[in-house]
Amino acid sequence: NAADIGVTGMAVMGSNLARNLARNGFKVAIHNRSVGKTEKVIDSYGDEGEFFPSESTADFVASLQKPRVAIIMVKAGGPTDAVIDELAEHMEEGDIIVDAGNALFSDTRRREAALREKGLHFVGTGVSGGEEGALNGPSIMPGGTKESYDRLGPMFEKISAHVDGVPCCTHVGADGAGHFVKMVHNGIEYADMQVISEAYDLMSKALGKPASEIGDVFAEWNKGDLESFLIEITAEVLHHTDATSGKAFVDVILDQAAQKGTGAWTVQTALSLGVPVTGIAEATFARSVSGSVPQREAGRAVLPAETQDLAVLDEASFIDDLQKALYAAKLVSYSQGFDEISAGAQEYGWDIDLGAMARIWRGGCIIRAKFLNRITEAYERNATLPLLLADEYFTAEITKCIPAWRRVVAFAAANGIPVPVFSSTLSYYDAVRAERLPAALVQAQRDFFGAHTYKRVDGEGTFHVEWSEDRRETNQDA
Ligand code: 6PG
Repeated sequence: NAADIGVTGMAVMGSNLARNLARNGFKVAIHNRSVGKTEKVIDSYGDEGEFFPSESTADFVASLQKPRVAIIMVKAGGPTDAVIDELAEHMEEGDIIVDAGNALFSDTRRREAALREKGLHFVGTGVSGGEEGALNGPSIMPGGTKESYDRLGPMFEKISAHVDGVPCCTHVGADGAGHFVKMVHNGIEYADMQVISEAYDLMSKALGKPASEIGDVFAEWNKGDLESFLIEITAEVLHHTDATSGKAFVDVILDQAAQKGTGAWTVQTALSLGVPVTGIAEATFARSVSGSVPQREAGRAVLPAETQDLAVLDEASFIDDLQKALYAAKLVSYSQGFDEISAGAQEYGWDIDLGAMARIWRGGCIIRAKFLNRITEAYERNATLPLLLADEYFTAEITKCIPAWRRVVAFAAANGIPVPVFSSTLSYYDAVRAERLPAALVQAQRDFFGAHTYKRVDGEGTFHVEWSEDRRETNQDA
């Protein structure tokens, strides 16, 4: 009598994942560095299913059915490496170690390669949905070998969220692919959260609406194209009253957003791959700006607004504009995020089905949304779509939003209200549709001061102008 699967790390995420497995009929070995947490799980939830508690790593591994599957749910970084080493010591060829934390995909690639040497499978898997999701059905994004997925997949698919009977779990690709996709998921999450907050800010500052009324607007938006978990919880948050002060909850929160790193990883990775994820980058930087306390204090003290103070003449159409701008900005962030996944797949040799990624994000995860179905359909129409926005459905959708989007960004600029995601996504939109970009001038400047060369619109070759001499053009290929 052995366990089907084990979970080590009994903090909330780990214990919820273990309970989810047990509730779904799997026999689950559980372990934690300090025994107290394991005992607590057994005391509180032992009757939810069949648990095999262990006090030591050796016993934990011994309680698993072969080939063994052990899930690690501990802090990313050093703690994860320590647990991997301990588990590996007791495991045998063919066994599978799963890291379900938010690890950096390059760490996962390194760990996978090291364990492969020992004949072990290492599966870095994204798990999204927070504590709730881990317990009741997360979106699961496993990387690693096909072989390990054959063993793991059926269990993960069973405990994942389901939408229209389809599990929100699929094999993403080899080694670090799962954690890469989870990283980009989080980047998109940052962009979604920021642009929602920008819409809130505009309603608050330009319309002077109290939080609860803005909550009503979000609740209304949640019935349309924007229907999503993040819009839904935004409405709930804005309707919440602080128990201590009796004020709107959002008004008593310090306006400095924290971050644990996955957004920054998405941006750093995008920079090294050369993928413009401007919406995600601005969302990540917006958190940094909010936390730049000395700069904000200095700026607040002396910098003038010099605004045009445009008034909102028609509240209903202003709100309608915001809804459209939000949808458009969101489409750009997703389009950019999918570009990053496809660039990552190319760089690291992963065979990632982009449509399937949108499908497994429809339920369970933080960015779950109704419109993700449309992304799946777009990639079904064309698996190598170079730009999500160029899919016929999304082109039509974003076209409907453009005038509203421009009005929102112009209004915000004229009134001195920062909208980094609304505006950067609009600039990206205008850049990818432009016939010609000022990059030509940048190339000319580079050639001037650094002889960095340029190409011409009217022929092949690499050229340079002898700027400090007779300004003669030389063909560098000749
Ligand atoms: C999820 C979340 C989860 C976590 C983020 C929050 O998909 O369930 O993304 O992974 O809440 O790490 O990130 P920040 O603390 O950086 O906002």
